[in-house]
Order: sequence, then structure tokens, then C-alpha cells
Amino acid sequence: MSRIRILAFVACAAIAFPMLTAGAQNQRPSGPPEPLKNLKYFPKDIPRQALLDTMETFTKALGVGCQFCHVTGDEPGTKRDFSLDTKQTKIKARTMLRMVAAINGEYLTKLPTRLQPPIVVSCATCHHGLTEPRQLQQVVLTAYDSAGPDSAMTLYRNLRTRYYGSGSYDFGVAPLTDVGETLQQRSRTADALKFYMLNLEFAPTSGPAWSAAAGGQLASGDTAAAIKSYEKAVSLNPNDRRAARALQILKPKP
Ligand code: HEC
Ligand code: HEC
Repeated sequence: MSRIRILAFVACAAIAFPMLTAGAQNQRPSGPPEPLKNLKYFPKDIPRQALLDTMETFTKALGVGCQFCHVTGDEPGTKRDFSLDTKQTKIKARTMLRMVAAINGEYLTKLPTRLQPPIVVSCATCHHGLTEPRQLQQVVLTAYDSAGPDSAMTLYRNLRTRYYGSGSYDFGVAPLTDVGETLQQRSRTADALKFYMLNLEFAPTSGPAWSAAAGGQLASGDTAAAIKSYEKAVSLNPNDRRAARALQILKPKP
């Protein structure tokens, strides 16, 4: 294990999160520091503060507290011991550390040319403040498959309320457009329309959202509504050639 590589990871983490928040510091073990007993990735003599700073980047990148990976003594019947490997999440995090080191150290360094300044992959690159780095369309479609359209739409609204502005999920028009198109491919046209309409509720001035809705309306046989939506799409985005062509075909010739 190269020491330089580890220090590089720590340094990059510090660049990614120069401001360490006070919030996570509250969860640090109190009292005199215990020796570091169970390091299998970081070097055994890593400065304690460098390790703790890295740990704080983990909590921010995943949106969790230390107890997500560690036995902090907060759960009943447990005694605080950060060296224990009893939580699957800690074991996975160690694999993640090795994966990130491989991406940065073994793959990106072998590119024939690099973008400047070089881009370093960190936990936040994938996790964006979430423990499960799933795209919003996947989250919504999974809810749709297990609980139906109404639950999936409620989930979308709740996630939007909770995460809007955090960067954890993309609340632009692409994810719900994806959901609608996926459902159309599965011939669930009526359900697809629900998601296109939900998109328009939040993005009423988006040309692409109107264009997608028009596609769904057309598939469901509502040509009049599709024409209106395509017209709206073209008025909002005059460069939408697909909508313009659709209008030429759909509109009754004088
Ligand atoms: C996403 C999972 C994760 C989170 C969250 C996390 N840690 Fe860790 N922590 C690890 C892993 C993995 C190791 C072991 C690293 C190794 O094997 O080199 C570790 C090791 C440690 C150790 C060394 C324990 C020992 O003696 O071996 C301490 C101390 C520690 N973490 C403190 C914290 C604190 C404090 C927080 C909250 C601010 C925190 N960690 C949050 C994953 C996490
Ligand atoms: C290239 C993308 C990527 C990067 C970078 C990444 N992760 Fe992950 N992470 C994932 C994926 C994908 C999963 C889901 C793995 C699974 O199926 O359990 C995951 C899962 C996890 C989990 C388990 C979550 C759970 O609920 O079981 C932890 C903990 C975790 N990552 C920590 C980290 C830490 C710490 C880092 C930085 C050292 C990191 N990850 C960097 C993609 C990434």
C-alpha cells in the first residue's frame, strides 16, 4: 500500500470538502484518543486528525453519521468501539476505498492524456449525499414496479421536497421524461402520461417536457391534445425540429 497514494486520497478529500462542518464533530469520540487498532486500508501510523478528517468527508458524501458504519454505543446494548468491523457498511466502505484508489491510481493515470486540472474521483462523485447512489428515474421506476403509479408519484414529490437544491438527485425534466418513455415502451401509456403531467406540473415552461407529453398523448390516441402540446413545445423552443415535423404531419391540411 503506497503511503503517497493514501496521503493523496486524504489531500483530495480535503480539497473536495475544505469546510468541515461542526455537526459531524459532535459525534467524535470524546475523552483521550484511543490508539488506531484495526486499519486495513490506511497506514497504521496515519495521523489521527487526517483519518478523522477523511471520516468526516465520508459522512458528508453519504449524508450519514458515524454510526452508519461504526459501533458508536448509541444503539442499545452496544459499547462504543470504532475498530469493530461488525457493520456491513464499514466493510463495504473499505472496498469502496480500494475501488476509488484503483480508479484514481490505476485507471485515470493510464489515460494517454488527462484533462487539466486533473479530475479526482471521490466518494461524493457517485454518492452525492446519499448512501445508495441511484438515479432518480431508477428510484421512481422501482417504486412504480412494487407499488404502482400513485405511490411512485408521491415518492417523487417527497424526494423533491426533501432533496431539492441538495444536488443529490436531478430534479430537471430528464428523469420523469425517462420514466414516461420507459412506461410507453412497456405499453403502459396511461401511466406514462401521468409522469409526463407530473413533469409539467414542476416545469410548465420546459419545451422538452411538452414535447415528451405530446408523444404520450399521441400514443394514447389523443391527437388534439398532442397538437396543442407540440405547439407549446415549439413556442417555448423554436429549435425543436422533431415537434415542428410532428405538427406538419398531424395538423389538418387547409
Ligand atoms: C461510510 C462508512 C464510514 C463512516 C460514515 C465513518 N467511518 Fe470511520 N472508518 C470507516 C472504515 C472503512 C474504517 C477502516 C479504515 C481502514 O481499514 O484503514 C474506519 C476507521 C475509523 C477509525 C479507526 C478505528 C480503529 O481503531 O481501527 C476511527 C477512529 C473512525 N473510523 C472514526 C470515525 C468517525 C469519528 C466517524 C464520523 C465522523 C466515522 N469514522 C465515520 C468507515 C466509516
Ligand atoms: C464509482 C461510484 C462510487 C464511488 C466513487 C463510491 N461509491 Fe460507494 N457505492 C457505490 C455503489 C454502486 C454502491 C452500491 C453497492 C451495493 O450494491 O451494495 C455503493 C455503496 C456504498 C456503501 C454501502 C451502502 C449501503 O447502504 O449498503 C457504502 C458504505 C459506500 N458505498 C461508501 C463509499 C465511500 C466511503 C466512498 C469513498 C471512499 C465511496 N462509497 C465511493 C458507488 C460508489
